[in-house]
Amino acid sequence: MIPSTTARLILETARIEEVVCEFLTLRRSGANLTALCPFHHEKTPSFSVSPVRNTFKCFGCGKGGNAAKFLMEHEGYNFPEALRWLARKYNIEIQETASTPEQLAAQQAEESLFIVNDFAQKFFQSHLPGTGLDYLKSRGFTEATIQKFGLGFAPDGWDGLTKAATQAGFKLEILQRLGLTTAAGKDFFRNRVIFPINNLGGKVIAFAGRTINNETIQQSNNPKYLNSPESPIYHKSQTLYGVHLAKRAIRQQNVCILVEGYTDLIALHQAGIENVVASAGTALTTEQLLLIRRFTPNLHILYDGDPAGIGAALRGLDLALELDLNVKVTPLPHPDDPDSFLRRVGIADFKECLATNAKDFIAFKAGILLNDTANDPVKKANAVHGIVESIARVSDPIKRSFFIKACALLVGLSEDVLTAETNKAMQALEKKKQPLVIVERPSALSLPKATSSPLETHLTRLLLEHGADIYDQKENITVAEHILGSIEDVLEHFEGPLCHRICRESIELVLAKKPVTPQHFIAHEDLAVSGFVADLMHESAIEPDPHWAQNGFLRGSDPAKPDYLDDIAKTVSRFKLRVVSQLCEQNLKHIKDTPPGDEQAMLRLLKVHEKLNLMRKELAESLGLVKF
Ligand code: GTP
Ligand code: MN
Repeated sequence: MIPSTTARLILETARIEEVVCEFLTLRRSGANLTALCPFHHEKTPSFSVSPVRNTFKCFGCGKGGNAAKFLMEHEGYNFPEALRWLARKYNIEIQETASTPEQLAAQQAEESLFIVNDFAQKFFQSHLPGTGLDYLKSRGFTEATIQKFGLGFAPDGWDGLTKAATQAGFKLEILQRLGLTTAAGKDFFRNRVIFPINNLGGKVIAFAGRTINNETIQQSNNPKYLNSPESPIYHKSQTLYGVHLAKRAIRQQNVCILVEGYTDLIALHQAGIENVVASAGTALTTEQLLLIRRFTPNLHILYDGDPAGIGAALRGLDLALELDLNVKVTPLPHPDDPDSFLRRVGIADFKECLATNAKDFIAFKAGILLNDTANDPVKKANAVHGIVESIARVSDPIKRSFFIKACALLVGLSEDVLTAETNKAMQALEKKKQPLVIVERPSALSLPKATSSPLETHLTRLLLEHGADIYDQKENITVAEHILGSIEDVLEHFEGPLCHRICRESIELVLAKKPVTPQHFIAHEDLAVSGFVADLMHESAIEPDPHWAQNGFLRGSDPAKPDYLDDIAKTVSRFKLRVVSQLCEQNLKHIKDTPPGDEQAMLRLLKVHEKLNLMRKELAESLGLVKF
């Protein structure tokens, strides 16, 4: 576990603008910086970064928070991972403290898998010179590319890696769990060029090994590629090769190119095309497409022009449509794959081909299905049904009607007929449909919603926004001291746990002679608190409460205006009035419930009632409220 003092140090040191600009292009706009929001699709920037607050906020989709929250949303990290990333960036050393033995064991188990993979990768890399390097060079890969992808070579012995790893102190059991060592204790990868497979954060989760003997590929005992088996850190269906190196470029160019092979992806990178991921030969899964959708809604599928490649593209197409991705397909001339095509025609023609030959899914599918129907009406009808079934998966009705228009033109049928068919297909799909289960990461991303009342939220906001200001020059007390002193007796009557907690912790700050500031809470090690405060500090995050306007309460206190003191006085009074009124009602209930004869209790309750009523009157008067 990361000690909370370190977490605080990290969050206080991290500058939101320095973190965000590693991923987005920021433009200055007054005191803030803006960008196109990376979390939803938009054409005009509503994503705002406030260097003063040290927070970000998107006014379009509502996401906001501190630097750690940004990394969690943007990079898919959990909170500790985000803190570690920040610690690395700002050269802060983390001395982890122990958690419970079970947590520690689980953490260590997973950590040790990564450590062993790391060891294996270095082992493979160190054995690259010679056969492996010659092979990669013969395929046109440069040293820089080889380095970038951490490529290596598994030597031709029986147990080179297994021996080296066990001698270095790693357990055989872990090597086997990762699939690096077989049950018989032999190396899994032998005499193969090694492609490490990384997760979103760049850690090595698995390996692929390609044979260097093209002649033996046809033999079933020597497949062209071998893949690590599934392990606790490698889930094939959730993995896209190269995503850790591509995410930035995908976001910047707002389109993700999808290829099939490892070498295709690497060749594209070497030619300067970095917004590309590879499905690595498997049929595309929903999870993989959702991963892409986190970075862009636009998918450009680049597939081999052979029947197998086209089939794969068609399957990927329907899934992608269902997830609302905008799909284009560029089939390459048979028998090329992206790697060979690029080498044959060069980067300029390659890009030209992508730009001119890209087909939207309808043209692509129609092209294939209608290709060999000639004038056979039955075949043609089948083809149209195939297209309509794809259109039926598009959930946006406007997009759908455009596709129907395009399809009508292509196949020479009326739009009405196609619309009717699409509707039928949609109903059929609806019946078949299983609910899409999206696995949420068990992380702090799903924060508990604050249920604080608008009044106490406003009070908390005033406390944080002006807490460090001087309230009374003569007495030398701060606004925080004034507010907290005034509400101390009703502190336990907050409705929202977050506001309550912030006030309680503010008292601790005051006692420790530290200033009460939003920054302190934005750098809070509990993301629920930091997120809440970040939201609080962005004006529009707060719903205006109609009651305040009615009762003449001020909303939105501008530090330039001294009238926030009046706002504070009224908000404090109103908060106390609400608490006192509630206590009054409770007390009345007690009075009603008191059994006749218990004079003692009744007397006490009546005294309380008198006192509460007096307080209520005074508060109401101070607020200028006549009736209540
Ligand atoms: P090169 O021949 O080295 O250029 O690789 P490629 O990527 O062009 O190969 P191909 O088009 O045949 O296959 C595309 C992708 O499918 C590969 O990158 C692998 O991810 C996967 N693949 C191909 N053959 C095999 C195999 O025999 N086993 C496994 N597990 N995957 C394979
Ligand atoms: Mn290839």
